[in-house]
Amino acid sequence: MSQQPGPDRKTTDAAAATGSRLDSYVDRYATRTHGMTASEVRSLFSVAARPEVVSLAGGMPNISGLPLDVVGSMMHELVDRRGMSALQYGSGQGDPELREQICTVMQPTGISAHPDDVTVTVGSQQALDLVTRIFIDPGDVILAEAPSYVGALGTFRSYQADVVHVEMDDDGLIPERLREAITSVEASGRRIKFLYTIPNYHNPAGVTLTESRRAEILEICRRADVLIIEDDPYGLLGFDGEVPRAMRADDTERVVYLGSFSKTFAPGFRVGWALAPHAVREKLVLAAENSVLCPPAFSQLAVSEYLSGHDWMGQVKEFRESYRERRDAMLDALDDLMPEAAHWTRPTGGFYIWLTLPEGIDVKAMLPRAVTNRVAYVPGTAFFADGFGSRSMRLSYCYPTPERIREGVRRLAQVVEQEMELRATFGAWASPRRPGLDGPAPDQS
Ligand SMILES: Cc1ncc(COP(=O)(O)O)c(C=O)c1O
Repeated sequence: MSQQPGPDRKTTDAAAATGSRLDSYVDRYATRTHGMTASEVRSLFSVAARPEVVSLAGGMPNISGLPLDVVGSMMHELVDRRGMSALQYGSGQGDPELREQICTVMQPTGISAHPDDVTVTVGSQQALDLVTRIFIDPGDVILAEAPSYVGALGTFRSYQADVVHVEMDDDGLIPERLREAITSVEASGRRIKFLYTIPNYHNPAGVTLTESRRAEILEICRRADVLIIEDDPYGLLGFDGEVPRAMRADDTERVVYLGSFSKTFAPGFRVGWALAPHAVREKLVLAAENSVLCPPAFSQLAVSEYLSGHDWMGQVKEFRESYRERRDAMLDALDDLMPEAAHWTRPTGGFYIWLTLPEGIDVKAMLPRAVTNRVAYVPGTAFFADGFGSRSMRLSYCYPTPERIREGVRRLAQVVEQEMELRATFGAWASPRRPGLDGPAPDQS
């Protein structure tokens, strides 16, 4: 379409000439960057970080219980004893000793792995990026839970994948819905490259996939020849101390398992890993070398020292206790203070609760009012690739103290009540919705 010179065009040219255009490279970016937008979580951080705001938005691990003196002297010793390797380049696949230790870390999940099949990554976020890079061409389909982890959705978008969501309920991904999704994508002639799933203490939904469903989902994926990416950063953080069995423990060829030290030790080291079938592992290492040459040696050796020289499992147990206390505080406050029409999940581990409000409330539009009332959350739409989730939100209990959590829920309940009054006065906003965690069909009366 030809552009006519006119008032708008003149303004744009003038802006470009004076350099005041927002981004003068806008016409040059690759198509894949079009999907790269700041996540709703990120744009919230500056507001939610104000001290007067109780942030139930961010998912930062609460590392205040870490023994910093112990970690500090370990770092000192590391440089003293192994400085020449800790400050040098290393293997693209990751430090061999750490890979062995990672195999031990995975044992409670039922996984028995060989260090050759482990690739160390810069957090499990890089593992997600590498897996997507080696499998996805533009337009390929990735199946993902509804809702799903916002960081994974961003990565999938940046590789121009087409995300098809599959509903969950309180027992996790619904096998029947998975079967239907596979059938419908195949009928449309598109290629499913993998199922991305977070079976344990889901981010953002807070639910855990039951054991029987794990077996069923494996069977469905075997029959349909769908690869599974099992993302498990929270598996050791169950409040009853039981570690759910990984799907990878029951199928070494169909499942790529992703793990992380971000929640069980510290996210600042940026150390995660992928355990993959042998051929996939080779491609992952090549992709990793293209991207970062090798994961940071210093971080890897620091994690390795921590695992061998410290009671790391004892620390995980302390983390569990502190998160359980916070989870209890949030559930108690919700039970006491939230209007009855709202409903929410009851996590048995991890960091998150998924709260759904009655039909007609737009949670994103409500956010500025919540922040004015000094509480923040993440609107549900951040966790969908297809615009759903508008009456849900993610609440994180991992970071604030139990007292702040209760205060935050009190403020949130006030805002929800006001919103429900407005809705009763002016009528409901019609939200796009799906069954599953979004709740039952709307009341037509
Ligand atoms: C489900 C899930 N996967 C992956 C990550 C990335 O973790 P990291 O890169 O710190 O290992 C997160 C972080 O919050 C997460 O919640």
